[in-house]
Amino acid sequence: MVTIGVTTRATEGFAPELLAVALYKGENPQDLGEDATRVVSDGDFGGKPGETALLYGQQGPAPRLLLVGLGERDLASPEKLRRAAATVARRARTLKLREAALSLPALPDTGIREAARAAAEGAKLGLYRFVKHKTSSDGHELDTFWVVTDDEALDEARAGTMLGEQVAEGCTLARDLANEPSNVATPEYLAGQARRISETYGMRCEVLDRAGIEAEGLTGLATVGRSASNEPRFIVLEHRKGGDGAPVVIVGKAVTFDSGGISIKPSAGMQDMKFDMSGGAAVLGAMEAVGAMDLSLNVVALVPATENLPGGDAFKPGDVLEMHSGKTAEIVTTDAEGRLILADALSYAVRYEPSAVIDCATLTGACIVALGAHASGLMGNDEDLIAEVQTAGETTGERAWPLPLFDEYTEQIRGDTADIKNSGGRGGGALTAGAFLKEFAAFPWAHLDIAGTADEKKGNAYTTKGATGVPTRLLVEFLMGRAR
Ligand code: BES
Ligand code: MN
Ligand code: ZN
Repeated sequence: MVTIGVTTRATEGFAPELLAVALYKGENPQDLGEDATRVVSDGDFGGKPGETALLYGQQGPAPRLLLVGLGERDLASPEKLRRAAATVARRARTLKLREAALSLPALPDTGIREAARAAAEGAKLGLYRFVKHKTSSDGHELDTFWVVTDDEALDEARAGTMLGEQVAEGCTLARDLANEPSNVATPEYLAGQARRISETYGMRCEVLDRAGIEAEGLTGLATVGRSASNEPRFIVLEHRKGGDGAPVVIVGKAVTFDSGGISIKPSAGMQDMKFDMSGGAAVLGAMEAVGAMDLSLNVVALVPATENLPGGDAFKPGDVLEMHSGKTAEIVTTDAEGRLILADALSYAVRYEPSAVIDCATLTGACIVALGAHASGLMGNDEDLIAEVQTAGETTGERAWPLPLFDEYTEQIRGDTADIKNSGGRGGGALTAGAFLKEFAAFPWAHLDIAGTADEKKGNAYTTKGATGVPTRLLVEFLMGRAR
């Protein structure tokens, strides 16, 4: 894995194989030599986001100079820098270099620490690949990515890259877990990851097996998991570093494979349902980062984990469940399984008297229809909390956009034979799913529907094809904002 270093240009022996300089759109480079001036003035490089120009034969510290676009100066943001850093790191790897350096640009309204963090995150996440199951690959990795800054900014830059690395490592764990196929990433596998995190950082970990889940009355989870031979798990991970303050609870849906159950899905594309545990993966990734940062906050992670499969013992449309909270739910479709396991996790969370609860879940295809891949759906019962989550999304580039939970959506899921039903039909599918969860949220609560954002079909600057790790960085940002 790549190491992020911080250095100054003047440091003895600083001679990277490639030095990158980020330029705003339409601006001319200063002090970079004739070639760089020429490539800009001749119009071969315009500074648009993602644009690059590679120049050789430089007399500076590096034999290669890579210009990378930052876009309009007025629209500069950590997100643009994250992307630029990823572009640089990836180009250096393609060139089979061992190291690359990026001169840290000054971003308006952004401190050194934040900029350095963005550069580190972008480089590390941009270099991510899931190659574990390939028996052959080119194998070339970048060893070091240098963030180049001035003498007086070194300390701030070091603090920023350290934070960026911790956050990126959490996000990397989330991607790794979500990219694993369901024959590897079973509920028990996720439980093992939670145990590893708890041992590394001194957290409390409790894992309920099938019998424990039934004994606790987590009927939704027990029922969805009933017909699978990879048994369900209910994972509890507690980071207690916030004194006697009320904890923040983060909840992640972990359906390790969603076939739809008896209401089975069409087979085309069904392989992507291995990603249906991305919410749980992000929650575990966030806990990894929280542990590494030793965040001064009480944080509880709840991950209901199960497969959703048909079978002789499977639950069926028309069944009625008495949920963990005591409410009754009627099954319209066994493919609306996520809300059943999340509802139980939410009512389990009541015992913590939490200051806030955020759940994240690949919950509805309808959310993909509404927002596509460019934002997670954001719902909840507390306007301030929703705004706080939205801001954390904006800051990290893991954008979330508010959707309404009007009472009419709750009306839409009123049950015929039970209190509520697990589908409200086609109209407003993301919102009726949110309305279902709302019935179990007896605390300030926000819900992120990540069905469209959890995995990438193509990949962009710092997300590769496959799992994105969303919303790991959003969650960590939110928790950092709540820490003392
Ligand atoms: N895991 C799916 C949602 C999903 C669909 C995520 C596509 C990512 C891509 C969820 O369990 C589901 O099947 N939801 C149904 C609900 C419906 C049956 C009420 C859906 O969205 O179709
Ligand atoms: Mn489903
Ligand atoms: Zn699902």
